[in-house]
Amino acid sequence: MTKIALVTGANKGIGYETVRGLGAHGYTVLLAARSAERGEAAAAALRKEGHRVDFVQLDVTDPASVAAAAARLEAEHGHLDVLVNNAGIARYDGSALPSEATLATLREVYETNVFGVVTVTNALLPLLRRADRGRIVNVSSDLGSIGLALDPGSPFYAMAYLA
Ligand SMILES: NC(=O)c1ccc[n+]([C@@H]2O[C@H](COP(=O)([O-])OP(=O)(O)OC[C@H]3O[C@@H](n4cnc5c(N)ncnc54)[C@H](OP(=O)(O)O)[C@@H]3O)[C@@H](O)[C@H]2O)c1
Repeated sequence: MTKIALVTGANKGIGYETVRGLGAHGYTVLLAARSAERGEAAAAALRKEGHRVDFVQLDVTDPASVAAAAARLEAEHGHLDVLVNNAGIARYDGSALPSEATLATLREVYETNVFGVVTVTNALLPLLRRADRGRIVNVSSDLGSIGLALDPGSPFYAMAYLA
C-alpha cells in the first residue's frame, strides 16, 4: 500500500523540508498550505526534484477547508499514514509583556497553534485509523515546554510570557 503523509503549513520552512524528507523516504505527500499560489509553487518545486507531492489547500483555522482536504484525501487515497501538524505562528504585542497582550493576538495564536491542531487531527483521525500504523507528529517549540518555562536555569524561563 502506498504510504501517504500530509504536512500542514508546508509551503516553506520546516514544513517544506519535512515534505522533502518524507518524499525521499518514498512517501506520497500532500503538501498542505493556506495559499493556493504558494502551495502550488512549493509542490511543483519538489516534484521537479522527483518527489511525489500534491498540493492541497488547507487553512488550519478554517474548518471547511480542513473538511474539504479530508474528503479529497479519502477519495484519492482512502487512508493516511502520517499527519504532521506543523503550521504555527508566533505573535506578541508591544514588548511582549502579558500586560501588553491584546485579546486579538492571543485569539489568533490560539486559533492556529491550539484549536487548529485539534480541528485537523480530528478531521483526519478516521483516515489515520485505516493505516497499518498511523502516526501523528505535532511540531512544538521550546517555548511550549512547561518544564523549561518553570526552570530558572533555562533561557526560556524569562520568555514564558510569549504567546
Ligand atoms: N523555526 C524555529 O526556530 C522554530 C522553533 C520552534 C518551533 N517552531 C515551530 O515549527 C513550525 C514551523 O515553523 P517555521 O519556522 O517553519 O515557520 P514558518 O517558516 O513561518 O512557516 C510556518 C508555516 O505555517 C503556515 N501557516 C501559518 N498559519 C497557518 C494557517 N492558519 N493555516 C495553514 N498554514 C498556516 C505558514 O503559511 P504562510 O506562508 O501562508 O504564512 C507557513 O507555511 C511552527 O509550528 C513553529 O511554531 C519553529
